[in-house]
Amino acid sequence: MKILVTGGAGYIGSHTIIDILENTDHEVVSIDNFSNSDPNTFDRVEAITGKRVKNYNIDLTSYNSLKTEFFLKEGHIDGVIHFAALKAVGESVAKPVMYYQNNLNGLINLLKCAQKFDVDSFIFSSSCTVYGNAEHQPVTELTPTQIPESPYGYTKLVGEKILSDFAKTKKDFQALSLRYFNPVGAHISGLNGELPKGRPNNLVPVVTQFASGWINDLVVHGTDYETRDGTSIRDYIHVSDIAHAHVLALEFLNKSESETNYDVFNLGSGNGVTVLEVLHAFEKVSGRKLDYLLGPRREGDVEMIFADNSKATKGLKWDLQYGIEDAMASAWKWQQFLNKSKSGDKVRL
Ligand code: UD1
Repeated sequence: MKILVTGGAGYIGSHTIIDILENTDHEVVSIDNFSNSDPNTFDRVEAITGKRVKNYNIDLTSYNSLKTEFFLKEGHIDGVIHFAALKAVGESVAKPVMYYQNNLNGLINLLKCAQKFDVDSFIFSSSCTVYGNAEHQPVTELTPTQIPESPYGYTKLVGEKILSDFAKTKKDFQALSLRYFNPVGAHISGLNGELPKGRPNNLVPVVTQFASGWINDLVVHGTDYETRDGTSIRDYIHVSDIAHAHVLALEFLNKSESETNYDVFNLGSGNGVTVLEVLHAFEKVSGRKLDYLLGPRREGDVEMIFADNSKATKGLKWDLQYGIEDAMASAWKWQQFLNKSKSGDKVRL
């Protein structure tokens, strides 16, 4: 199969490309305009897999560029894995139009091309954010979705809806939305991991960059939640486990194992972990003490969310390989690689 990965230089996209190249015979092409990623990612993918991935620097919000500069040039594409999107919750509140414009137009243009160029399989990166502040934990795929707290969350909920409506109209089309919980960690080699531009928002890059002195403070956002230690609970899942689920999802779509041509899966570990437990796991595997501060709640954060992942483990035959300590150890290995190779905020091999 020939697979288009959008956002191939991004965090989950690049790990998924590595998994596809290591475990399948599929051909991979990427579209990434490096708006929140680095072209050197493809050097790192090559260092790990020995294979060079062709990338097109195209903005998905331009239908004409997507059609003429990619689809008309590349020939038939069997499947699309669509990661490319903006993903900072706080930024989406400040710049809602940018989020709707980018995340929704990018998806719509891809679907227009899927129609025109007869793509059969489509995987959409969704998020556990569609469940909002769910009453019961863990959440299953049948847990009702809620009105999202942020424009970012809306783009995921509406994106799912657009894809499921589109799937009803296209013959021989198979589509999935994969709802990621909190992807963390790095490739086991320590050669590829998360590197957002600017100060990170997500907990694990904040922790590793703080431990390396790249940023000056690490604040625990909220200590008065009704949880076992007062800090909020999330479901942290190793990025390589998430990546592998995409390879299994392609197989699932290819075999048309789904009873309908659109389905959703939770991609989480099934374990709820507090912020303090994450920090302690990092301290344990790194041997570093974290001088963190206790602060107020972060606006828009939910108290607790973790996955019932049984639909994915059974349906996709997904075996998780890594736990939270593996994730923190690999994230730390990646950070140490960055510390050695850092020049400005660019990564050089
Ligand atoms: C959120 C979204 C998720 C989205 C992700 C992308 C929800 C429920 N989740 O994840 O769908 O894919 O953003 O960015 O909306 N924390 C600190 N200090 C920090 C940073 C984080 O204490 O410096 C805490 C947060 O308050 C939170 C936990 O760590 O409880 C995880 O935060 P983060 O890594 O930002 O992810 P989410 O907000 O859960």
